[in-house]
Amino acid sequence: MYTPKTFTIPELKGISKKNIEEHLKLYEGYVKHTNLILSKIAEIGSDESRAYELSEVQRRFGFEFDGMKNHELYFQSFEGGAQNLSETSALKSAIEKEWGSFDTWLARFKTVAKTRGVGWAILYYDKSADKLLNAWIDEQHLGHLIGTTPVLALDMWEHSFVFDYQPSGKGQYIEDFFANLNWLKIEENYNQAIN
Ligand SMILES: [Fe+2]
Repeated sequence: MYTPKTFTIPELKGISKKNIEEHLKLYEGYVKHTNLILSKIAEIGSDESRAYELSEVQRRFGFEFDGMKNHELYFQSFEGGAQNLSETSALKSAIEKEWGSFDTWLARFKTVAKTRGVGWAILYYDKSADKLLNAWIDEQHLGHLIGTTPVLALDMWEHSFVFDYQPSGKGQYIEDFFANLNWLKIEENYNQAIN
C-alpha cells in the first residue's frame, strides 16, 4: 500500500493556495488508484477468464503510479521556500558541463515545458553515462527514461495552472514555478542520484 505524502508548501508567487489544495486532491487520487489497481491485480490473480480485465488494469498502472511519483517530486520542490541553485553545487557544474551554461539549460527546459498537450517537463540524471537529460512526458507515464533518476519535475497539465493563469498564461506559470523553486531540494535529488 502506498500512503499519500504530506507537503509543507509555503505561500507561492502566482500559484494560489486554492490551486495547490485542489492539486493535492488530484495527487491523492493517483495514490488511491495506484493502490486500487494493485489490489485489483491481486484479486484477479491467475484467473484466465479475467485475462482481459487484468491486462486493462495493468495497462493503466503506469499512468497512476507515475502520476503519484511525478506529483511527489513536484510538490516537494516547493517545500522550504524559494532558494537559488548554489554556485558551488555539483548540479550547477553538471548542468554547465552538459549545456555550457545554466541559462542555456533553463531556456531549453522551458521550451520542453511548452510542448503542446498535457504532461511533464523533467530533468533526469542517467548514471550509466553520467549525463543529465531533459525530456517531455506525455500524460503521466509516456516517455520516462528507463534506468534514469528524475531530478526536477514540472507539471504542465492545465490543472496545475489554469485556475490562476488562464490557458494563455502557461509561460508565466513556468516563470513562477522557477521563482518558487527550492533548488536545494533539486540539488539533494541530484546528489542522491549520483551516489
Ligand atoms: Fe498535476
